[in-house]
Amino acid sequence: MIVERSLFPPLSAGVRRGIEELLPVIEKTFPLKWRFSAALPKNISRLSALLTKERSELNGSYMSDPVLFNAYLRYFLPWNVWRLSRLLPALRPEVTSGTAEIVDLGSGPLTLPVAVWIALPELRRAPLRFHCVDRNGAALEAGVKLFHALSAESGEKTAWQVKTYRAALGERLKLPPAAMVCAVNVCNELFQKLPQAGTAALAVNAKKFAHSLSSLASDSGRILVVEPGAPRPAQFLSLLRGEFIGQGLSVEAPCPSSRACAMMGGRRGQKWCHFNIEADGAPPLLHKLSAAAALPKEKVTLSFLLVSKKTASRRSTPGILDVRVISDAFPLPGGMTGRYGCCEKGLALLSGDSLVEKYRQGSFLQLEMPTKTVRDAKSGALVIAAD
Ligand SMILES: C[S@@+](CC[C@H](N)C(=O)[O-])C[C@H]1O[C@@H](n2cnc3c(N)ncnc32)[C@H](O)[C@@H]1O
Repeated sequence: MIVERSLFPPLSAGVRRGIEELLPVIEKTFPLKWRFSAALPKNISRLSALLTKERSELNGSYMSDPVLFNAYLRYFLPWNVWRLSRLLPALRPEVTSGTAEIVDLGSGPLTLPVAVWIALPELRRAPLRFHCVDRNGAALEAGVKLFHALSAESGEKTAWQVKTYRAALGERLKLPPAAMVCAVNVCNELFQKLPQAGTAALAVNAKKFAHSLSSLASDSGRILVVEPGAPRPAQFLSLLRGEFIGQGLSVEAPCPSSRACAMMGGRRGQKWCHFNIEADGAPPLLHKLSAAAALPKEKVTLSFLLVSKKTASRRSTPGILDVRVISDAFPLPGGMTGRYGCCEKGLALLSGDSLVEKYRQGSFLQLEMPTKTVRDAKSGALVIAAD
């Protein structure tokens, strides 16, 4: 038996239009002087280098530097909204009666509320209260301005409230217990000063951050952490996952089980948990800007973790193996096709022909439990015939 549910369902036409309409709203709300506009691609490349290869040179002030902040608003924010819009619909947020409190840590220019507005339009009339926390007040202010411009542009009345808190993460804040606690693209900044090699310091930070996140969630609250799909952030997420499981939280996604993580990353050659999503549905204007900044995008990558304080509702079915597909298709000897997956038995190698080709990264499969254990000599993965 094969059941297929994807983590990244195709974007609906409405969401696609919403992201396209975001770019002119940004332009209108934060008009750029011509001399800045000509240098925008160069400034985007500079900020991209600072946020990736040259992280040690990055100080907390890039959000306060008008030149870099404009680059963030016009390039990083829309791409982050686009990545979140691919992910959020599959996470099936629950709308309960009464106001739902949502905490967004490291909110910057309110990227998460903007993405929820665009990707989950069915929630626009739900009574959501966002608590956006960031050490940079200017970014939060710009985010509030952008959010109001976006909702005004749509002509829709919303029941949402947005509260901002200029504070460092870990600072004591009086926040109501949250139905959802989010941290998007912020963990990377928490450990940028740590030694790049070794896991010990990263593990200490993960323990502290996991406690801080779960202390903000209500008894039935969920926690969503999203990071770029690079090895170090993925390793951090894997450590966070271990901490959450130790605290008794249940893992909702992307993992198909709560067993030890099969893709910790961290060591040379070790696989890390991340997803590559085709970027061809993103707005043409954003692709044009990315190409001008010498950062053309065919795919975007992300790693994420969704956990819940509710007791696990997922039960494994006898004789069935739950598998999350985590790689693109690749050729195997004998004209077969392979894809890696993750399951309770660790890494899996799905092998077959047309069906394996058809799966996508993020697909969730329920396969018949293999009767024999055959391991791939190269990767050690459990080989599963998936046709
Ligand atoms: C890369 S931006 C992400 C912004 C937004 N979440 C997004 O996805 O576009 C990281 C944000 O985290 C904030 N930040 C980093 N370290 C922080 C800390 N220790 N306390 C509070 N905010 C922090 C920065 O000011 C910045 O706005």
